[in-house]
Amino acid sequence: MYNQSMLKEGSLAGKTILVTGGGTGLGKSMGKYFLQLGANLVIASRKFDVLEETAKELESETGGKVLPLPCDVRNYEDVEKTLKAIYDHFGQLDVLLNNAAGNFISPTERLNAKGFDTVIDIVLKGTYNFTLAAGKHWIAQKQKGTILNIVTTYAWTGSAYVVPSACAKAGVLALTRSLAVEWAKYGIRSNAIAPGPFPTKGAWDRLFPEALRDKLDVSKKVPLQRVGDHQELANLAAYLVSDYSSYVNGEVVTIDGGEWLQGAGEMNYLMNVITDDMWDMLEMMIRGAKSK
Ligand code: HXC
Ligand code: NAP
Repeated sequence: MYNQSMLKEGSLAGKTILVTGGGTGLGKSMGKYFLQLGANLVIASRKFDVLEETAKELESETGGKVLPLPCDVRNYEDVEKTLKAIYDHFGQLDVLLNNAAGNFISPTERLNAKGFDTVIDIVLKGTYNFTLAAGKHWIAQKQKGTILNIVTTYAWTGSAYVVPSACAKAGVLALTRSLAVEWAKYGIRSNAIAPGPFPTKGAWDRLFPEALRDKLDVSKKVPLQRVGDHQELANLAAYLVSDYSSYVNGEVVTIDGGEWLQGAGEMNYLMNVITDDMWDMLEMMIRGAKSK
């Protein structure tokens, strides 16, 4: 069921949606579903050959219209050029989905300043670049807009070994919540999704490289004992950019099978340590403590 399409046909008809980093991975999967629901799609990132290939593939699979645009989200001029190209081509932009990211695991003391800059510039600067440029345009033209940002659960817990990404995603979450209030008066909604593990080549190569995969089954970190399916993320994203979610603003929706809470709950560690027999014995001891 969760790998099936959720919204009614035509739910995004008449909308033009920009997905940054939409040529690969989760951006591509979300973009595909937006097309199936009737939206026009723009995908923007650095590798134009990848974008062109994806655009062709998605157009032939869905019959929708896809505009691929080369853009480095770190560069504000690129971002403005991208927006202009979207308005020239489709005449409108209704949804900005900030999905582009850069990340890799590393002990923080092994990073140099350039490494920090690289990740923070893609994730945080890239997101505020597009948010600022699109927001200014929508406000000046008195148009409504919807912003959806992809963060992750360590935006609020923090995480070892991905510190630049954690700092940047925390900033994106603050941006989401701040503008949800400040720009609501212009009809601009801001929300975020915090996914847990969803297999993509981009993330798996950099966060769970092969040598690590042998040692760690990612699905074991998740109470539901599985990784995410791209369609269930696409379903959530489509809802949050559609008019069905018109009253949802400033929200971050976690979709991680309970993963981050498993790491957080004080006594959760007992799950893999105590057998049923041991629970019988422990109950006797605990009840017995009353009479002492
Ligand atoms: C230490 C490193 C490094 C590594 C890069 N650097 N790789 N430092 N260990 N393994 C540092 C170095 O300082 C390096 O400069 C600098 O980063 C720039 O590296 P480049 O490779 O030149 O940068 P660039 O070509 O811009 O590529 C950016 C990138 C790359 C982030 C490094 O991985 C990329 O393009 N990523 C895009 C896709 C991506 O990351 N997808 C995964 C998102 S997953 P010097 O000069 O010292 O070499 C995600 C999931 C979160 O966010 C949650 C999961 C549950
Ligand atoms: P991905 O396929 O590697 O996607 C990242 C995209 O960002 C790529 O298409 C890349 O395209 C683009 N990008 C990187 N740097 C850019 C730049 N400077 N300018 C423009 N575009 C740039 O990885 P993914 O797993 O689908 O990640 C998508 C989003 O989900 C990210 O925000 C990530 O943090 C988030 N997320 C993923 C997971 C997961 O388990 N997969 C979990 C939590 C959150 P180019 O190389 O062409 O630029």
